[in-house]
Amino acid sequence: MNADVTAPLQPGSTIGILGGGQLGRMLAMSAAQLGFRCHVYSDVPGPALDVAHSSTIGAFDDLARIADFARSVDVVTYEFENVPLRAAAAAQEIAPVRPGPKALDVAQDRLTEKTFISKLGIPVAPFAAVGNLSELQAAAERVGLPAILKTRRLGYDGKGQVRLESADALAGAIDEIRGAPAVLEGFVAFQYEVSVLVVRAVDGAIRVYDPPINTHRNGILDTSVVPSPLPAAHRKHAEEIASRIALALDYVGVLAVEMFFLGETGGASLVVNEIAPRVHNSGHWTMDACTCGQFENHIRAIAGWPLGSTERHSDATMQNLIGDDVAGWREIAGEPGARLHLYGKTEVRPGRKMGHVNRLRPKTAG
Ligand SMILES: Nc1ncnc2c1ncn2[C@@H]1O[C@H](COP(=O)(O)OP(=O)(O)O)[C@@H](O)[C@H]1O
Ligand SMILES: [Mg+2]
Repeated sequence: MNADVTAPLQPGSTIGILGGGQLGRMLAMSAAQLGFRCHVYSDVPGPALDVAHSSTIGAFDDLARIADFARSVDVVTYEFENVPLRAAAAAQEIAPVRPGPKALDVAQDRLTEKTFISKLGIPVAPFAAVGNLSELQAAAERVGLPAILKTRRLGYDGKGQVRLESADALAGAIDEIRGAPAVLEGFVAFQYEVSVLVVRAVDGAIRVYDPPINTHRNGILDTSVVPSPLPAAHRKHAEEIASRIALALDYVGVLAVEMFFLGETGGASLVVNEIAPRVHNSGHWTMDACTCGQFENHIRAIAGWPLGSTERHSDATMQNLIGDDVAGWREIAGEPGARLHLYGKTEVRPGRKMGHVNRLRPKTAG
């Protein structure tokens, strides 16, 4: 390993990306802009491979191949949070892995994640670990109903979750998640959802993007809009929460923190839902509405460069193009103020993220 791991990477260095999806693709495009090359490691061909200097198709548990990959790059990052810890550890023996394996460890398991965040004194939904029906019954007593049963691992876009309205639904819910280790979360009566994207540099410098308000369709992010209606004092608090989590993880790169806003309740107004140790769909608007977007800032952070400005110069609505939505590309391409991003996926499937559009407006507030 390089003796001075805090020295900035020279342009021309190679960045290793674990994962080959659209997030890896947009990371690689930003890396190229700064003169870096990317080597993508993925278990399946994906959108990132089209824009990378080189790629390896290999299993994430093939530690020898992961080690070869790490030897071919100057720093390793990842674009999805389910990289096995052993793979991250194998890479870290050879090259710096940023963000470090600790963030992966925390974010991969909803129980670890909720425990970690609440130990920082940050509010989360009431939760309890569930391994079987009797534990679920006890958890429902403690947490109350309605509640949501979520698998501890590998859930995304609302998958691996069952909403529970009444006690007779408990046994069915265990069947539905096939008895997988789970957490029961009390239902949070929120007004709306926001997310905070924070970027932390190798030297500890931190910058935060304006929190967008996020809406979902069929469990999948639909839109992210800035400015959000979040009142200024809460916004400051939201940013402080995200920064505190980044610091506690000794984090390097972009971290996303999803939160519920409950309004003026007399109690907690902001409840953290989950974190993602990577660039995030709710930050896609930053590519076009900020001086330096999330993808470039993640690359800057992991390369040991100074961070770019997260200042927002425009109002923006990010809309995901899911499945057939992508058929509208022609009209969107002709819309003034619209910035179209397509991921190069050839097969359209329901629920598949095909691209997104950022619609920009002159900045009004915030
Ligand atoms: N405890 C909760 N109370 C109310 N709504 C919730 C709760 N947990 C999740 N949700 C809703 O479900 C969505 C998906 O849940 P989340 O935990 O973020 O899983 P995913 O990994 O699928 O994004 C959230 O964005 C929110 O709208
Ligand atoms: Mg989520």
